[in-house]
Amino acid sequence: MAVIRNSAEHQQKVYERWAPVYDRVYRGLLRDGHRTVAKLAAEAGRDILEVGVGTGLVLPYYEKHCRVTGIDLSEHMIAKAREKVARHRLGHVESLHVMDAHNLDFAGHSFDAVCLPFVITLIPDPERALDECARVLRPGGEIIVASKLGDGRGLQGAIEEAVAPLVHRVGWSSSFRISRIVEWAERRGDFEVAGIRRVFPNGFFKVMRLKHRLSA
Ligand SMILES: C[S@@+](CC[C@H](N)C(=O)[O-])C[C@H]1O[C@@H](n2cnc3c(N)ncnc32)[C@H](O)[C@@H]1O
Repeated sequence: MAVIRNSAEHQQKVYERWAPVYDRVYRGLLRDGHRTVAKLAAEAGRDILEVGVGTGLVLPYYEKHCRVTGIDLSEHMIAKAREKVARHRLGHVESLHVMDAHNLDFAGHSFDAVCLPFVITLIPDPERALDECARVLRPGGEIIVASKLGDGRGLQGAIEEAVAPLVHRVGWSSSFRISRIVEWAERRGDFEVAGIRRVFPNGFFKVMRLKHRLSA
C-alpha cells in the first residue's frame, strides 16, 4: 500500500496554486455533492460549521435562514470565499476563519451540523479532526462528510491505490477508505451512520451522515 503523508505545509502550498483556478475546474464536478451537503446540513439545524470551506463553492447553497461559519487552512482559498460572500451578498455566512481542522477554535456544543465537503481525505489525522467536529457539535447534531470514499475492493480499489501518489501531488486523495470513518464512529459509540448517498458523477463521490446519538 502506498504511504501518503499529508501535511499542513503540503496542503497550503498546493491550495495556494489551486485558489485562482479552483472554481473553474471543480464547480460543475462537485455541484451535486455541494448541494446535497448544504441541504442535509440545513435539515440538521440552523447553526452550521463548514470545515475546509475552500473558495466557498458550497456557501450559496445553504438555506438563507442558516447561520454558516467556515474555516480553512489556506488563506488563499479563504480569500476567494470572502470575495464570493461580498459579491453575492451571502448574508447567511456569519464568518470565515483561517484555521486547522485538528484544532477548532470554537466552544463545545456550538453547531447543529458540521460539514466536511471534499476535505476529510486530505487531513493528516482525520480521527482527531472528527473528534474536534464532535466536540463542537450540539447533542443530537450531525457531521456530514462528502468525498471520494472508496471501499478498497476489486479493480477500482487497486486503481485507487495505484494512482494515490499521483493525485496526492495535486492536493487530492484516491485511497481513503469509508471504513476509517465507520470505525471512528464505532470506537466512540456516540455516533451512528445515518445514511450514505452516492452523488454525481454516477456515485463516484459519496455523502455520509453521522448522527450524534442522544442516548449514548
Ligand atoms: C478539495 S478542497 C475542497 C474545498 C471545498 N470544501 C469544496 O468542496 O469545494 C480542500 C480544502 O481543504 C482545505 N484543507 C486541507 N487540510 C485542511 C485542514 N487540516 N484544516 C482545514 N482545511 C484544510 C484546503 O486548504 C482546501 O481549501
